[in-house]
Amino acid sequence: MKALRIGIVGLGRGFMLTLPALRAHPRVEIAAAFDLRASPRAQFTREFGAKSYESLEGLLAADIDAVYIATPHELHATQAIAALGAGKHVLVEKPMAISVAECVAMEAAARRAGKLLLVGPSHGFDAPVRRAAELIASGGFGAVRQLTAMNFTDFMYRPRRPEELDSARGGGVVYSQAAHQIDVARRLVGRDVTFVRAVAGNWDSSRPSEGAYAAMMGFEGGAVASLTYSGYAHYDSDELVNWISELGREKDPEQYGDTRRALRNLEPATESAAKIRRAYGEDGASTSEPPAPYHEHFGFVLVSCERADLKLSPQGITLYGDEHREFLAIDPPSLPRVEVIDEFVEGALGLVQPIHDGRWGVKTVACCAALLESSRTGSEIAPTAMIIDTLEAVSV
Ligand SMILES: NC(=O)c1ccc[n+]([C@@H]2O[C@H](COP(=O)([O-])OP(=O)(O)OC[C@H]3O[C@@H](n4cnc5c(N)ncnc54)[C@H](O)[C@@H]3O)[C@@H](O)[C@H]2O)c1
Repeated sequence: MKALRIGIVGLGRGFMLTLPALRAHPRVEIAAAFDLRASPRAQFTREFGAKSYESLEGLLAADIDAVYIATPHELHATQAIAALGAGKHVLVEKPMAISVAECVAMEAAARRAGKLLLVGPSHGFDAPVRRAAELIASGGFGAVRQLTAMNFTDFMYRPRRPEELDSARGGGVVYSQAAHQIDVARRLVGRDVTFVRAVAGNWDSSRPSEGAYAAMMGFEGGAVASLTYSGYAHYDSDELVNWISELGREKDPEQYGDTRRALRNLEPATESAAKIRRAYGEDGASTSEPPAPYHEHFGFVLVSCERADLKLSPQGITLYGDEHREFLAIDPPSLPRVEVIDEFVEGALGLVQPIHDGRWGVKTVACCAALLESSRTGSEIAPTAMIIDTLEAVSV
């Protein structure tokens, strides 16, 4: 059985969340890494007995088949294109990149190289989303008419790098968080998005980027999704999913306000350092927590089909039919995010046709760009037109 030798680009928080699935996968060998920071490089070498590099060129010259890119958003495009050019398969964190033009260039690089470009993890991969998408696609409930998704979190008040609060560099909740919610909606509806009409909110001048949005997204065939998000740390919509956190762990509602309090006690100059303390190779950053008991999720999600509503939760799916209501339990996860690594490995080895490939990723980023553009102009925006405009600009 052939294993994929993977090199890691960026040993931060995102890598830590994906690491359990990478480490346990029978067809993955964690073979090398690249990061600018010395301490995670040293820990990586100790933990995996593998070489770590101080440059991308060094990593790409190593004996690896693929890379997993988990660096800040604005680096994804350049690093993915370099890796594809060096003949590596690429798994790139969400968001795929921070403009449609970058995503189009990445997808073209994948096609030129004949290598897989996959975008993930995102909550579109979560097992309840996948199961609900399969049930809906089987046609038993009739067509999807409407989707309601809401997530209220403390995203804006967790310790952040400066670029995470700079809209020009993909900061705020749209590229980081709407990318998840849009993936979930697209996966469930199963059709292309025809328009986005949205208003994004920038409500706190001390955290000057978009921290909230309300968006309506139309789909081919007439379905419509209503997507609401706030990262302003007031209401917590985990209340609507049995007090289970996004990462599938039980949450104590009595911790209300903790994120804001912790941030208030930080000197602004030390905020980036506080963020990095949650990353791989730093004090207190554990890689050996027991696996979460529940599936990951992205807040409240309800899909209304012609003959039933389906409500997703970290434990399963509740079906609301005409006269009966039924709960379909989904077995607890063996490991978080394993679905992503399965799709990447099997896609790279040519065993499956992946769903979340570069073409999928371009469309999700186009929806994020359309959300912001709609908010700026007050009009409805067609994400497909943004992709076509980009392709035309590239070809002239
Ligand atoms: N899918 C998810 O649930 C999820 C969760 C967290 C992060 N992410 C994604 O992962 C990416 C990184 O975010 P994060 O929260 O892990 O950030 P982070 O700051 O914790 O980690 C980024 C890492 O990249 C390294 N780095 C920075 N510049 C670099 C460069 N030029 N070359 C090589 N390494 C460099 C940093 O030293 C750090 O180790 C983002 O795109 C984010 O959206 C996704």
